[in-house]
Amino acid sequence: MAAIVIASRNEHKVEEIRKLLTGLAVEVLSLKEFPNAPEVEEDGDTFQANALRKARVISRFTGLAALADDSGLEVDCLRGKPGVRSARFAGEHASDAENNKKLLAYLAGVPREHRTAQFRSVIALVSPKGAERLVEGVCRGVIIEEERGSGGFGYDPLFLVPHLGKTFAELSMEEKNKISHRGRALQQVVPIIREWLEQGLL
Ligand code: IMP
Repeated sequence: MAAIVIASRNEHKVEEIRKLLTGLAVEVLSLKEFPNAPEVEEDGDTFQANALRKARVISRFTGLAALADDSGLEVDCLRGKPGVRSARFAGEHASDAENNKKLLAYLAGVPREHRTAQFRSVIALVSPKGAERLVEGVCRGVIIEEERGSGGFGYDPLFLVPHLGKTFAELSMEEKNKISHRGRALQQVVPIIREWLEQGLL
């Protein structure tokens, strides 16, 4: 069976992606199966550059198709911050709690109507035969004043989806996948993988 490697060490993400790709005739592997895979610096200026670099390196290393996601939170009144620096907002090895604390400090005193934000996910797909594709998904929301919910990861407890009245951390994985930035980007991945399977590019 054809295979695709998810170029991520974040088990939450791998699990989310695996769920969305079930039903396709491809074996979904992760970097767990490739412990010696190189670390890829995410120091590009854009989600696109980071995702493409990761997917290219992992495809070359494994000889298989690779899928890499680069994602982050863009807060409107912070002119898109933390953006590509979302994981390292509070420092190089910052924890989710530290990043969330810093975000709340930046937004202290900002009223609800100005706390709008979006999660953005860019996914790069690289085939061992040289084909490359980029897709993107966005989910809009509001940064609330204190954490709510215990699911998910990262900024999830602070990200309220207004039409659901719930934060990402209060949604089940299935509910989150339906509307999330990564879910929306991944929905576009499924037809590309089908196309590549038909064309023998995997
Ligand atoms: P990367 O895409 O692995 O570089 O990480 C991006 C960072 O953005 C994560 O470490 C989180 O801080 C944040 N992030 C990306 N997607 C999500 C999400 O679905 N929920 C919460 N935080 C996220």
